[in-house]
Amino acid sequence: MLAALGGTPEVTAPHPHNDLCAFSPRDVEVIVAHLDAGGTTSYYGRDGELREFEDELAAFFGRTHCVAVNSGTNALHSAFFGIGLQPGDEVIVPSYTFLATVSPLFALRAVPVLADCERDTGNISPEDIARRITPRTKAIVVTHQFGHPVEMDAVMDLAERHGLKVVEDASLAFGATYKGRRAGSLGHVAAFSLGSTKMVSGGQGGALVTDDPEVMERANLLGHFVRRSVTEVSSAFYRRFITTGYGHNYRMHALAVTMARGRLHRLDELIASRHERLDRLSAGLADLPFIEPPVTRSYVHRGQWGGYTASYDAEAAGVDIDTFVAALEAEGLEVAARGYHPLLHRAEFFRTAEDGYYPGQPWQEKRLYSEGDLPESEWHADRQIAFPIFLDEPLELVDGYVRAVRKVVEGLHALKADLARSAPAAFTV
Ligand SMILES: Cc1ncc(COP(=O)(O)O)c(C=O)c1O
Repeated sequence: MLAALGGTPEVTAPHPHNDLCAFSPRDVEVIVAHLDAGGTTSYYGRDGELREFEDELAAFFGRTHCVAVNSGTNALHSAFFGIGLQPGDEVIVPSYTFLATVSPLFALRAVPVLADCERDTGNISPEDIARRITPRTKAIVVTHQFGHPVEMDAVMDLAERHGLKVVEDASLAFGATYKGRRAGSLGHVAAFSLGSTKMVSGGQGGALVTDDPEVMERANLLGHFVRRSVTEVSSAFYRRFITTGYGHNYRMHALAVTMARGRLHRLDELIASRHERLDRLSAGLADLPFIEPPVTRSYVHRGQWGGYTASYDAEAAGVDIDTFVAALEAEGLEVAARGYHPLLHRAEFFRTAEDGYYPGQPWQEKRLYSEGDLPESEWHADRQIAFPIFLDEPLELVDGYVRAVRKVVEGLHALKADLARSAPAAFTV
């Protein structure tokens, strides 16, 4: 019997099932080694292990420059500032992404123009980007959602034809490839998080990579101390400003550098471990009705695979997603209806002009959205069930998830009968 109807839960392992914030024994080893060697607390310049880490990241992405910072959010801010966005510039961004892909644009008073997604992958749709380009558009931001690279050939073709910059948010796609090329090496600049839920994690951290020296110099001046700018900022125009920089402190903590670098050196092993588990989950769900594992196109590899959502067809199943997910939770699973985070165009910030941001200086350019404005994103997100992104948990736990989902799908008739019984009399058939 389903646990939601009084039966025994399929999975009894305590939560969290996938504690991405935990230090692994290997993290502890590298941190202790750093401390034992009398390692520093902070790199004011581009020195020591920070330099080695940045060089390795630049080489990994086949780029000339890397600037490490203290979060993915600030890596994106540095990238947006780096490409020279000005107040009022329009930037086309996905609605189906984590808020920080977009929110640093607020700080620059650039105008986020939210675009719709592809139905199957949930990635920003190149066709919808094309529809939203205006003479004021300056850039496109893409998120390789849950490790699946965006259709970058189409995006870069649009960018070239319209003279736009492309920023990749590669936070969820470390190590992912698109037609044999690395996500993060395909646009003008890529920014990514090295935060705790990421595979290459320092607990807190981020970085940008680019071939453009001006982006690198501007990123240095935005978030770094004079000592770093002395060596990194050499152009005649920007060198005049190295004493003050442009106002922020985005320096990455030295222990975060050590930990993230240790993870980078183990990336292949970590990717293999996650793929073994998530492929096993997909294989276990593949033949079920009403639920579809994530779609991965033949020419991509998801790399770190920074999110796993399966698509649930509530209409065909005859049970709404919240009831279905509640039944999975009753079986002991850690799952969520409608993905990990809400669509941005459903967030209050994009629904009201009275946003409390620079009150008294109305943000004339800001776009407001209503339900129905991005129908593909709504269609996609409303079907997604978010699962843990297993990394090194026992395979038995993954198998428990498969058994639990199968049990709930097979018990849908009982859930439906229960819903009919508990519905108000006027609505029962
Ligand atoms: C797609 C994406 N972009 C940006 C960020 C922001 O990174 P951070 O939390 O390191 O600021 C995240 C973090 O979860 C993310 O998933």
